[in-house]
Amino acid sequence: MGRNLFNLKELSITEIEAILDQATVFLNAKNHKKFAGKIACNLFFEPSTRTQYGFQVAEMNLDIKAIGFNPEASSLKKEESFYDTIKTFDAFGADLLVIRHPSNGYYEQLAGKIETPIINAGDGTGDHPTQSLLDLLTIRQEFGSFNGLSVVMVGDIAHSRVVHTNFEAMKRLGMQVYTSGPEECRQNELNFIPLTQALSRCDVVIMLRIQHERHGKRLCMATDEYNSKYGLNHENVSLMKPNAIIMHPAPINRNVEIIDELVECGRSRIFKQVKNGVFIRMAAVKYALEAD
Ligand code: CP
Repeated sequence: MGRNLFNLKELSITEIEAILDQATVFLNAKNHKKFAGKIACNLFFEPSTRTQYGFQVAEMNLDIKAIGFNPEASSLKKEESFYDTIKTFDAFGADLLVIRHPSNGYYEQLAGKIETPIINAGDGTGDHPTQSLLDLLTIRQEFGSFNGLSVVMVGDIAHSRVVHTNFEAMKRLGMQVYTSGPEECRQNELNFIPLTQALSRCDVVIMLRIQHERHGKRLCMATDEYNSKYGLNHENVSLMKPNAIIMHPAPINRNVEIIDELVECGRSRIFKQVKNGVFIRMAAVKYALEAD
């Protein structure tokens, strides 16, 4: 039958840790269970590189046949609805649907009506569960556990589904979670902290892109002004704790939220996150296909 993975709020701490454990098994194992004969449809209604193609690699690693989808060349252009598009892939007899869509909670209209298990690959400013899981795996690899760690997410807080998933999950895992960034992008209920204070206090610093595509109007600020006020640069990186790490869900706007030289510096785990994303998505696919 399988099961959906819409957001992390639905998962217990034990279930989250089990997915991280399974991803670690995939990361270390040469031989592992395959799902030959299964078909996954990757239905991205928004642009994506890491999530879309990371899922495709994960599915190929599991011997699953992956089908892509181009909204521009689909019957959406003939005014077919989102619901009927998904219902069509369900009727094809696919084993898994991986969906990204710009509407928050798009999956609510599908729950109970689509038989094929669905993994949410990002819904508007709502949730991004596999990004959060790969962030957690990266943090656990670094520090061994979560309890007592401090993390700050810096940038476009209000428009970030990464923040909205991470904030709740990280708190449940015992982390002290802060947010920082421009006033226009803040959510005061998400524990705001000035950046300099956060950098000297936190073990994990997660930088975020300004999501101009989700703003009513473009945030008007020169690149260097944004970086000096809200970004990571040569001056403020020295405030970080000796063992603190830099993360970013990407895509990155180099020299805006983080200067070019820091993207691949010794503290950066940004491309490790991308690598971990493949194993987390393999574990998420296994979770969705193998309901207990
Ligand atoms: N982090 C992330 O979701 O990247 P993509 O939009 O490239 O998938």
